[in-house]
Parts: sequence; structure tokens; C-alpha cells
Amino acid sequence: KCRVALLTSGGDSPGMNAAIRAVTLACEQHHYECIGFYHGYNGLMDDQAVNLTSELVNPYLQQGGTLLKSARCKSMLLPEGPKQAANTLNKHNIDALIVIGGDGSFRGMQALSHHWSGQLIGLPGTIDNDLAHSDKTIGFATAVQTATEAIDKIRDTANAFERVFIVEVMGRHSGHIAFNVGLATGAESILSFENFDPEKAQAYVEKLAVQIQQQQNNKHSSFLIILAENLWPDGPSGLQQALKQTANIDSGVCILGHIQRGGSPVVEDRLLASKLGLAAVQAIAEKQHLVMLGEVGGNLIATPIENTIQDPKPVSMYWLNAHEEALKGF
Ligand code: F6P
Repeated sequence: KCRVALLTSGGDSPGMNAAIRAVTLACEQHHYECIGFYHGYNGLMDDQAVNLTSELVNPYLQQGGTLLKSARCKSMLLPEGPKQAANTLNKHNIDALIVIGGDGSFRGMQALSHHWSGQLIGLPGTIDNDLAHSDKTIGFATAVQTATEAIDKIRDTANAFERVFIVEVMGRHSGHIAFNVGLATGAESILSFENFDPEKAQAYVEKLAVQIQQQQNNKHSSFLIILAENLWPDGPSGLQQALKQTANIDSGVCILGHIQRGGSPVVEDRLLASKLGLAAVQAIAEKQHLVMLGEVGGNLIATPIENTIQDPKPVSMYWLNAHEEALKGF
């Protein structure tokens, strides 16, 4: 009987539970055993196993986080980590391991493949949407929804006082969240890696100051700046100070932070996670190995793991241009 193992690794994302559930249910249909490991690769190295059954996983479909817990595990990229992980997999007679996570987790899969001969299947799980070869990653749609709802609330109070707000959103080093949230909230400015050069920070402040003053003179309304995390030197308070020093503009700062990682997954994430979970077990039946499954243009696609790590996933030019166009209205 085929024995499938499953873990979630790296930053958790809403929909990971739906993927765990889909894998478990598909395994039952195929008459495969399904074994989860807690705490990502750490739990694989320390043998923290649990038998996954439909009774156990079903109630988690609509919950954020991951019932298997998660962790970042640096030792998977050192020689001992993958060997230890391989020992546990061999001890449990595992035939295939499904890893739900981001690029760091996929690097762990690559390392493991040098020490273990079973099948390895990756599913893209991260709010950042920074993995190529899947239009969206599991959790991205929910993170954008959550951030949008939070920023709508900031907009209400900002309008009431005609205030400027700088709102920092997550995304690690990519602007998928920033640009999508910026468009969805009608932000007056979006600053992210794709349209910002840190060496020209002062020039951006001056341009921003002019935009803010013009807009506030004409419309007496609020001005929202969506700022990608890890972008501005000294973070959002650095930009806040620069606006004050350059043009005596007062602004509020709001760091949305981990709020964006939690919450019940939206329908889009539940569907994506469920489809990819089912496809992962199908891929095992078809003897696929070292691939990530993603959805591209409505089709389920298997891509070699190394391509998903190497290939960039730029924010679509369409969205960048749409943002510029939208601002011309001001
Ligand atoms: O990759 C998901 C993510 O939430 C990023 O957006 C963010 O930069 C990072 O994880 C935060 O990691 P941690 O929760 O370990 O602080």
C-alpha cells in the first residue's frame, strides 16, 4: 500500500488546511496511507508524525493557519538535515512526500532529493504569490482581501480628517500584495520593488510631497500610500520622517503585519488548495517526481521544482500601467 507523507513549511497561508484536507481525502480514495509531519521539516527530522484521516482534517477546511503547524528550518540546507529527514521517511516506509510551502521549502525538497529516493511533490503555499508557474499561490487571495478590508477602514478615518497614511503590507521582496491591494483600495500611491529605486529615495519623497499637496488642495481628501515591506530604508517611519522634513507633511503609519497571514481562506483559496491537493495525489499515482503543481490559465500544470525556484514572477505590467492610469484621474 502506497504511503504518502505531507508537511507544511515556511510562512503559513490561508488555504493550507484545505490542501491538507484534499490530500487526505484523495489518499483515502486511492487507498493510500496518509501521514502528516508536524512543524515542517523540523518535525520530519524529529519524527513528529500523525496519521491523517478525513475525520481529523475535515473540520479545518475553513480555518486559517495550518493544523500541521509550520516552521522555517535552516538545517535542511546543511548536510545533516536532509539525511535525518530521509531516515525518518525510510523508517515510516514513505513512498512520496508532499511539501506545501514557498521557495525556501522547495529548496529543502531539492536537498532532500539527494538523500532520499521517494517521490517529491510541491504545492505553492505562500501569501506572497512570489512563485512562478502558478498564477496564484495558496493564501494570496485571502491576504489581499484581508489587507483590502483593513485599509478600507483606514480610509474612512483618513477621509474624516483629510489625513495622509502610509500602510505597510507584506510580500517579502515582491509587490504582488502591494499592487493588488493598492488597486483594490484606490491608493493614491503604491511603492514597491518594481517601481522604486532606493538610491532615488529623496526624489520619490519630493514627487510624493507635490502629489499630496496638489491632491489635498484640490479635493480635501485623504491620501493613502501603500508601501511594500522591506523596501523603504528605515521602514515606513523613515518615509514618514522624510515627508515631514521635506515638506512638513504629517502622516500616520499603519503596519498591517501578520493580520495578512491569518483568517478563514476566501473561496478562491479554498478552491485552488482543494484542486492542487487532489492533483498532488494524482501526480503520485502517475509517478511524477520533484515537481510543483500550479494552476496556470485554468489548467493544472506540473513544473520541475528547480524552475519554480529560478524563474522570477514579476508583477504584471498590466497592473503597473493600470495603477498609473488610475492616478491620472487626480
Ligand atoms: O512569506 C510570508 C511572509 O509573511 C512574508 O510576507 C513576510 O516577509 C514573512 O513571511 C514574515 O515572516 P515571519 O512570520 O517569520 O516573521
